[in-house]
Amino acid sequence: MLTVDGTTIEVAEGTRLVLAIQAAGVQIGHRCGGHARCTTCRVEFAEGEPTTMTKAEYQKLNERGLFGQARLACQIECHHDMAMHALMTLSSEGWSDTGPQVDSEVKPEALFHPIEELKS
Ligand code: FES
Repeated sequence: MLTVDGTTIEVAEGTRLVLAIQAAGVQIGHRCGGHARCTTCRVEFAEGEPTTMTKAEYQKLNERGLFGQARLACQIECHHDMAMHALMTLSSEGWSDTGPQVDSEVKPEALFHPIEELKS
């Protein structure tokens, strides 16, 4: 189950989180097309934050000073119940669109590492 900004939906195992959030009707940003470059897919977890992370997400969050504050929905797959708030949406940012189509697979690499391992 995924709960985003008060809407709860069932999500197929392994669904890319940014796509699941869209499926819940939330117009979350994905301005780089889901490549861990723009950070407009950032979310703030309330429950179920994954304990693993891609290197691309780790590097981008640190580069933008977001580590510990937000996660990138394009770099997360749905494998358990999660609840979150989408921080940048079509309406909150005043965009004309949310960004280019996002692939169903995590890009650039779907290798998830324990966060503690990435810190060392
Ligand atoms: S960082 Fe751009 S869509 Fe996730």
